Amino acid sequence: MCGIVGYVGRPGTTGAAGEDGAAVVLEGLRRLEYRGYDSAGIAVVTGAGVDVRKRAGKLANLVELLDADPLPAAATAIGHTRWATHGGPTDANAHPHVDGTGRVAVIHNGIVENFAVLRAELVEAGVEFTSETDTEVVAHLLGAEQERTGDLTEAMRAVCARLEGAFTLLAVHADTPGVIVGARRNSPLVVGLGEGANYLGSDVAAFIAHTREALELGQDQVVTITPERVDVVGFDGTPAQGRRFHVDWDASAAEKGGFPSFMAKEIHDQPQAIADTLLGRTDTTGRLQLDEMKISEAELRSVDKIVVVACGTAAYAGQVAKYAIEHWCRIPVEVELAHEFRYRDPVVSERTLVVAISQSGETMDTIMAVRHAREQGAKVLAICNTNGSTIPRESDAALYTHAGPEIAVASTKAFLAQITACYLLGLYLAQLRGNKFADEVAEVLEQLHEVPGQVRQVLDGLEQVREIARSMADTRSVLFLGRHVGYPVAMEGALKLKELAYIHAEGFAAGELKHGPIALVEPGQPVFVVVPSPRGRDSLHAKVVSNIQEVRARGARTLVIAEQGDTDVEPYADVVIRVPRTSTLLSPLLAVVPLQVFACELATAKGLDVDQPRNLAKSVTVE
Ligand code: F6R
Repeated sequence: MCGIVGYVGRPGTTGAAGEDGAAVVLEGLRRLEYRGYDSAGIAVVTGAGVDVRKRAGKLANLVELLDADPLPAAATAIGHTRWATHGGPTDANAHPHVDGTGRVAVIHNGIVENFAVLRAELVEAGVEFTSETDTEVVAHLLGAEQERTGDLTEAMRAVCARLEGAFTLLAVHADTPGVIVGARRNSPLVVGLGEGANYLGSDVAAFIAHTREALELGQDQVVTITPERVDVVGFDGTPAQGRRFHVDWDASAAEKGGFPSFMAKEIHDQPQAIADTLLGRTDTTGRLQLDEMKISEAELRSVDKIVVVACGTAAYAGQVAKYAIEHWCRIPVEVELAHEFRYRDPVVSERTLVVAISQSGETMDTIMAVRHAREQGAKVLAICNTNGSTIPRESDAALYTHAGPEIAVASTKAFLAQITACYLLGLYLAQLRGNKFADEVAEVLEQLHEVPGQVRQVLDGLEQVREIARSMADTRSVLFLGRHVGYPVAMEGALKLKELAYIHAEGFAAGELKHGPIALVEPGQPVFVVVPSPRGRDSLHAKVVSNIQEVRARGARTLVIAEQGDTDVEPYADVVIRVPRTSTLLSPLLAVVPLQVFACELATAKGLDVDQPRNLAKSVTVE
């Protein structure tokens, strides 16, 4: 996910509200770099036209370029820090993008889903493209509309009417120095209200150094800012008002988007991570399409076994995938820790599909498993959150999650995005191999599209979990139980607690308890239990309810995660944490959220650094 900054000050003056546009925007980009750092760029508008500087890589590369080749003094500037989606992290793909005349410059966050159709249309009309991005389409369309209407706001409205997907756009034009036009649909954009200057940003971090007064925009709105005015209209031209608010935290906190830690922010971002991962996966007839899939349909039809290789949290996503893919596709799925895979001489052939799951795409254990699988003749599909990283590059196909950059060492939003991508893969294979009719696939997809809203609901109702976590700061051991897809959720809950709060925690398959681990249960032992839906397989639910009774009978304190309306658990639960109703297979996306929040809150209560836990690193590049 990209970071966006816009600034208009007073021309002919210097200082904070004057012609220091490039410096003001650069300061904003520094605070937004956590959103993406594949490239960065700035455009300024002067009486002489639009000037652009942009560079692949971190912001430091752009700073170097600006030192060598400074931008002119300008009171209007826009800036962008990129997390690549369409097109690799190159100078050419860096934003801002201009049209053929170089008089309009555009920056963009999000995905224009119908960009291929629009691009083909423009190419047909003789437009030449200089990048692989979806954004450049907008620059060309906007240039033409500005020519036609002579009004940048009108031009933006006309272009937005043609775009599908989620986007935030900012545009400047040589004809209108002193004006920035922004637009938003399902992607963030806020206005900063200054003295003789106004600002735009992906979040308030972009302008927090200059003003703490802000205006929240609604969906499908176009905003036009000048040094003195902020005008908002709907995409349909109806005048609108933003909601004004005061930012009550300081500039240093803003680097985390106002959250106390990157982890808290990333937990909060999860609905968007799921929604973005689902975005643009169906064609006009509603049929599922995975356009990053470069393995032939014939090869996929002949697959007789899937092996998931991954580490840590990503491996738990793989375990959820096993239940879904086996159920939907009737293909056997093995899940193997990547570092164990190649040492056991695994049986793989050209009919094996190896699915490598990795947030970073740089985990050495997983890279080595991918190489081993390919040497054995297997096809490898990478599920990865990092465009251009090693694992997708060395695989036969890649399915990208769109969780945005994950900065906290402990994985949260990437996990939910990985599970979502696994569901997409399972449904795609089921459709391709004829295990499911199109309407059955569509039904699951519909449920999946409801999940972001349901995760938001879970997040909004977690004060009870936070209180419990704070009260358990001295706890020395916590157990987590689950069956079926609840089992990997239990293990992920335990992992989060271990790595963040340094508390001994174990996740067990609930049925395994009586085979030994139940000896650990003593009076007061906290035990989380992930309960499947009572509307699913009857026996599964009943068995987990029995497991709660077993540990309760031995004095455990039971903390039960159960679906809304499941009253069967109430007699045996010390605490019931409710999650919305969804199908059992999709339920991990909801059930894991309280466990993430529990670990994050408990670690915070212990005064620990939740973003950088001891002994860990974000990307594990050694075997
Ligand atoms: C746990 C965590 C790790 C990673 C694992 C794989 O919170 O973040 O267990 O999931 O190191 O990393 P990636 O997904 O980058 O391959």
